[in-house]
Amino acid sequence: MLYVGIDLGTSSVKQLLMAEDGTIKKIVTKEYPCSFPHPGWSEQDPVLWYEKTIEGLKELISEEDKAQVRGIGFGGQMHGLVTLDENDEVIRPAILWNDGRSTKEVAYLNEDIGKARLTELTGNIAFAGFTAPKILWMKENEPELFARIKKIMLPKDYLAYRLSGIFCTDYSDASGMLLLDVKNKCYSKEMLEICGITEEMLPKLYESYDKVGTLKSEIAAELGLSEDVVIAAGAGDNAAAAIGTGVAGDGKCNISLGTSGTLFISSNEFGVDEKNALHAFDHADGHFHLMGCMLSAASCNKWWMDEIVGTKDYAGEQSGITDDKLGENHVYFLPYLMGERSPHNDPAARGCFIGLSMDSTREDMTQAVLEGVAFATRDMMEAAKQAGAMPKRSFVCGGGAKSPLWKKIMSNVLNIPLDVPVCEEGPGMGGAMLAMVADGAYASAEAAAEAIVSVKETVTPDPALAEKYEKKYETFKKLYPALKENFKTL
Ligand code: XUL
Repeated sequence: MLYVGIDLGTSSVKQLLMAEDGTIKKIVTKEYPCSFPHPGWSEQDPVLWYEKTIEGLKELISEEDKAQVRGIGFGGQMHGLVTLDENDEVIRPAILWNDGRSTKEVAYLNEDIGKARLTELTGNIAFAGFTAPKILWMKENEPELFARIKKIMLPKDYLAYRLSGIFCTDYSDASGMLLLDVKNKCYSKEMLEICGITEEMLPKLYESYDKVGTLKSEIAAELGLSEDVVIAAGAGDNAAAAIGTGVAGDGKCNISLGTSGTLFISSNEFGVDEKNALHAFDHADGHFHLMGCMLSAASCNKWWMDEIVGTKDYAGEQSGITDDKLGENHVYFLPYLMGERSPHNDPAARGCFIGLSMDSTREDMTQAVLEGVAFATRDMMEAAKQAGAMPKRSFVCGGGAKSPLWKKIMSNVLNIPLDVPVCEEGPGMGGAMLAMVADGAYASAEAAAEAIVSVKETVTPDPALAEKYEKKYETFKKLYPALKENFKTL
């Protein structure tokens, strides 16, 4: 039996075909652009997601016995606001998870409704990227478009809707809307009222591993697949990535180095971070998790390499950063290219290089970018520590985890061992595994993770280097507070 995992990311849709025993048969990536119509805004066309997914799916299964394909599951970029009208047409480009336009609405929610009330209702406070503030932004700034809304959904749910005709979402992804009572797994009536929407506009809620339906017959025919192919609800990309790295069950940790960077700690019990630096969300295994999210992680390196240095040879650029240079860099980089979520919650924050001198090299700056992302991950780790959830080791996945240098820096900055799974494609793996559970191949997400995920390598910190990085981190953590007020006037 074969299963498809669709990782609907921010720079591409990555699809993976996996056999029941976890063997990966093929991976197909289709890229698409992200538009930034104003500084700090970020949008994408849902129709393009769908078209690229279909294009990729055809390529993915082209050489396989199509009768073997039994299910499709998703790991989708979270929080994006997708709106459809009465004809199921997309009303406006989706407003993405890293869009910072809703500062006024976030202030209204956090200050007027109040963080305490929001936390009671949903388990979380408002962040600019979350869906509810963006709904309020649309209501205020695009009232004619807002009035046309018949359906509100998250990015991967748009794919599920187009593929199956079922208007659905899952608890892990819905947690990031700020409309869900995360603990009790139902929409919060009060939050819907605050946003001026009704429950009919929202997708039906499922567990990530639930079967929501099957492929629409015309799509099955177009792809040459059976109409019985199961569509699983899937999960937000971080919850899916956690399943894909084996982070199911209590007290495990995954760090994802994708466009965003996340620290994900699974828990069997619902818990809220009192300081609200970490999100309290449902997990794709049916339980809960705490998560920190930095808005720019591997995207910092991509920006630095593609746009500034002007190369696609990332490994080549990193090759001169030898062991003796680690812990010795005088250049620092603040990775806030799209503002920052965890732990600063500051859409106005911006990226900076600090500490340049006449002898600074391009290599120092490349190293600073990798280190800046690691230090910002450490910030999230410190928030986890304060919330009483300090992980002693972690899995690592995502595009950034392909770099041995970055993994070494990360392990030493965090001073914990990092386990690298055989396949770094967390969300795609998780999506396929959730489809297996939906199809009955495994009894639970935890059982699928136990059977399928294995570790290929563990990167362990070197005490002397970890100590050097500890000192560097002391400097790094003073930089944002020193600059915070200045970002507002940039
Ligand atoms: C999580 C978040 C990001 C996106 C990226 O809260 O906003 O990780 O899901 O795809």
